[in-house]
Amino acid sequence: MADNSKKLTTTSGAPWPNNQDSLTAGERGPLLMQDYQLIEKLAHQNRERIPERTVHAKGWGAHGELVITEDISKYTKAKVLQKGAKSPLIARFSTVAGERGAADHERDVRGFSLKIYTEEGNWDMVGNNTPVFFVRDPYKFPDFIHTQKRHPKTNMRSPTAMWDFWSLSPESLHQVTILMSDRGLPTSPMHMNGYGSHTFSLWNDEGERFWVKFHFKTEQGHEHYTNDEAEEVTGKTREGYQERLFNAIEDGKFPRWKFQIQIMPELEAEQCDFNPFDLTKVWPHADYPPIDVGHFELNRNPENYFAEIENVAFSPSNIVPGISWSPDRMLQARIFSYADAHRYRLGTHYDQIPVNRPKCPVHHYHKDGEMNVYGGIKTGDPNAYYEPNSFKGPVEVPEAQEPPLRISGDADRYNHRKEDDYSQVRVLFEKVLEDDEKERLFMNIAGTWGAVPEEICERQLAEFKKVHPDYEAGVRKAWEKVKADGDYKPNAAPVTDKTPQTVPAE
Ligand code: NDP
Ligand code: HEM
Repeated sequence: MADNSKKLTTTSGAPWPNNQDSLTAGERGPLLMQDYQLIEKLAHQNRERIPERTVHAKGWGAHGELVITEDISKYTKAKVLQKGAKSPLIARFSTVAGERGAADHERDVRGFSLKIYTEEGNWDMVGNNTPVFFVRDPYKFPDFIHTQKRHPKTNMRSPTAMWDFWSLSPESLHQVTILMSDRGLPTSPMHMNGYGSHTFSLWNDEGERFWVKFHFKTEQGHEHYTNDEAEEVTGKTREGYQERLFNAIEDGKFPRWKFQIQIMPELEAEQCDFNPFDLTKVWPHADYPPIDVGHFELNRNPENYFAEIENVAFSPSNIVPGISWSPDRMLQARIFSYADAHRYRLGTHYDQIPVNRPKCPVHHYHKDGEMNVYGGIKTGDPNAYYEPNSFKGPVEVPEAQEPPLRISGDADRYNHRKEDDYSQVRVLFEKVLEDDEKERLFMNIAGTWGAVPEEICERQLAEFKKVHPDYEAGVRKAWEKVKADGDYKPNAAPVTDKTPQTVPAE
């Protein structure tokens, strides 16, 4: 029923008489330029879409609260991490490769982003549902993402590109194994963990620094689809994640995650038998046991998906006093990349969009620019728009200075490929994965090799063998099955790539 108490107006607030009939010269005549409201309506429609995120375009999200239940003040002075602190947050989960309209139940890594509104600014935790990543140097991130997106000629996803890149990048083995295992296809965002993945740092009132890993463990339990189950679900709905998350919250069944950290004293990093700043590695639990910190829950759906979830802008550069980064080269690159992406996707003053606005006072000396709707500096004195000034402009906060970062060595391009790419994957394969999960892992891998040139598959098998002979043997056997079933039709020339037809040929 129309609510007659609300009058239709133009965007400038003038009452509007008719939203049905265009203004024409005569009953059957052409339109008049004077019908500016029609022009306004069509022009607005042309601008309804903004660029989708270059990665992680498909997403689902909700509002909630982070609660700290344990005392970790010996590690950090961050107010948001003190026992008893409760902070509002917004979460966005996502797949990496698919476009904004992609189906939810695709095998892919899931993004796991939290924007926590603290009294000392926004703390963004922009993680994944896996503790490691495919590459360890940011030079390789755009190349890796190109292999996940569409082939320039066929405009289809290319398993050849994916396996070519992975088989030539042994550092990807850990993440590829997790992606192809059960955890690569969760049934919903509520049934997966979140990991900060990188090593970050915490620092306390005494100026001591500790390296830290952030973990968010699902309290709903892990649930996964097999490829066959996912295919069936996708045949019924492409929006299963949105449905499950949205409906759970509407029904008052608020999902929760336990918040844990692993801690490494600053100087111990030098003695560690692996590089603790290498994003392809975890910290073994036996050496660095998870410490309980608190939990977060999601308890409120957005009122408007576009305004709150499409417009939310996360960035690893958003930290608060007491929390900082580490020398991880991938993390260092991400500190630049996200704010740059937001300036392109949302505009210079993306942080003034309500969902991104800090819930604390903001005083800085940036000025003017596109969409500067709040005027930037709120100093109370219009003369305080530069620094130094004599007009009570914002002043520096020395307590926000983190302790100095110890570094050593010559500036150079150090070869990251000399790290050990196999030991931790071996532990995962030998000790963590059950036999039935290994069988699914083998088949999930071989099932994507239908059109991948043989030399690429053989190169990848050689890498699996370095992890464990059973890994290579298992995938080889599954590949033989794919061949015996007639599902193996690699193109002779790898560069022209041909994706197997899933619908009958004409
Ligand atoms: P642990 O045996 O102490 O830890 C194994 C961890 O593996 C579990 O705690 C769980 O992490 C995770 N896990 C359980 N089932 C699966 C699965 N099916 N697929 C992927 N991960 C699973 O040994 P380590 O700490 O020495 O780790 C051994 C291996 O486990 C690592 O090489 C890594 O591949 C994997 N792993 C380790 C994590 C870590 O932070 N140490 C985190 C996640 C995976 P969780 O409790 O986070 O669910
Ligand atoms: C999104 C860059 C690695 C998690 C993005 C976006 C960019 C980007 C440009 C789109 C941002 C936007 O438009 O809003 C990079 C670069 C990386 C990198 C350059 C490496 C050098 C990682 C890693 C993780 C990660 C290692 C997880 C540990 C995410 C998530 C999103 C995202 C979760 C979606 C955020 C959201 O929900 O809006 N990344 N990324 N990225 N990235 Fe990365």
